[in-house]
Amino acid sequence: MEKKMCVGVIGLAMGRHHLKGLVDKNIEVAAICDINPEVLKARGDENGIPEEKRFTDWREMLKIEEMNAVLIITPDQLHKEMSIAFLEAGKHVMCEKPLAIVREDLNAIVAAAEKAKTVFMVGQICRFTPAFVKAKELVDADTIGELYYMESEYAHDYFKILHEWRADPNRHGVVGGGCHAVDLLRWFGGDVKEVFAYGTHTLLPNAPYDDATVAVMKWSDRLMGKVFVSTGCKRPYTMRTQLWGTKGTILCDNTSDTMQLWTLGEDGISVNPDPEIIPIDINNHNVVHEFDVFADHVLNGTPVQMNAVEGAKTVATCMAIVESAKIGKPVTPDYKFN
Ligand SMILES: NC(=O)c1ccc[n+]([C@@H]2O[C@H](COP(=O)([O-])OP(=O)(O)OC[C@H]3O[C@@H](n4cnc5c(N)ncnc54)[C@H](O)[C@@H]3O)[C@@H](O)[C@H]2O)c1
Repeated sequence: MEKKMCVGVIGLAMGRHHLKGLVDKNIEVAAICDINPEVLKARGDENGIPEEKRFTDWREMLKIEEMNAVLIITPDQLHKEMSIAFLEAGKHVMCEKPLAIVREDLNAIVAAAEKAKTVFMVGQICRFTPAFVKAKELVDADTIGELYYMESEYAHDYFKILHEWRADPNRHGVVGGGCHAVDLLRWFGGDVKEVFAYGTHTLLPNAPYDDATVAVMKWSDRLMGKVFVSTGCKRPYTMRTQLWGTKGTILCDNTSDTMQLWTLGEDGISVNPDPEIIPIDINNHNVVHEFDVFADHVLNGTPVQMNAVEGAKTVATCMAIVESAKIGKPVTPDYKFN
């Protein structure tokens, strides 16, 4: 078991939040890496990282003995090569979502993580977003009874960021960003039995895939749901989410400072007309909580909830949605990764 975290961070765009979180908490930073020297200098200077700990080639970091963990915050297409190399070098790895965007990469990462003796965790950030964490607590405490319907969304305008690696035809909006909403519902409902989806292509004519998709999903004969993904939407980023149970209902999202909870009145049958309004911290990139959980796995050996198979199942569900919209038929997600 490790005594302390000594961490490397690769990819310093989104990864700047992870790096700042480490520095703010006085976690030892062994190395930082970005292929872009200007980004590397800017993030290094602003976080007081000495020159000798800055790298433009991530392979150099494989040799750093004192570094026991690495955070991989690079484009999705690079997750496989980097994850496997660091696992094979005996490092603990936290890799950003989506785990990968093609099935061969999912299979390879799952195999490497199963073989490794170190921790592998996927950074599905919604499992750390305060509103969703609170909703999970309420559902687990049976506050709204048995879930029978759930819905979530990923509405994020990609108009200005749809280039380079995000324009890869395999990086369909449902896989790249929609995986947040799909993973969130999988967190509540577990493995999905079947999906049926429609897509439209109206707002981002240059995108190599649909820019809006709606999927209905079935978990069992008692639980169904819906995910809506829009990567051309004309409203600020949001993930409005609804959880409908036999004893109550929760409405929440990642960008509101309150959530609504309806529960039953004293007769135990009819719902109270007014919801309880629960205050919520807005923090839709809660990388500090996410890192705390990763560190707990590394330092205390707690079981990894968001492991490689879980991350792969979320992507496989997204792939089933994309496939269903393409062929116009229901699809069963393929959760075999070997
Ligand atoms: N959790 C979230 O909410 C969230 C939000 C945004 C992005 N992401 C994920 O984080 C990852 C990075 O996304 P981003 O928005 O920062 O992308 P980005 O394109 O804005 O930045 C990627 C960074 O990685 C660097 N990079 C590229 N290739 C590299 C290499 N070979 N070695 C080292 N550095 C390299 C680039 O120079 C750049 O600074 C992706 O997997 C993305 O899906 C997650």
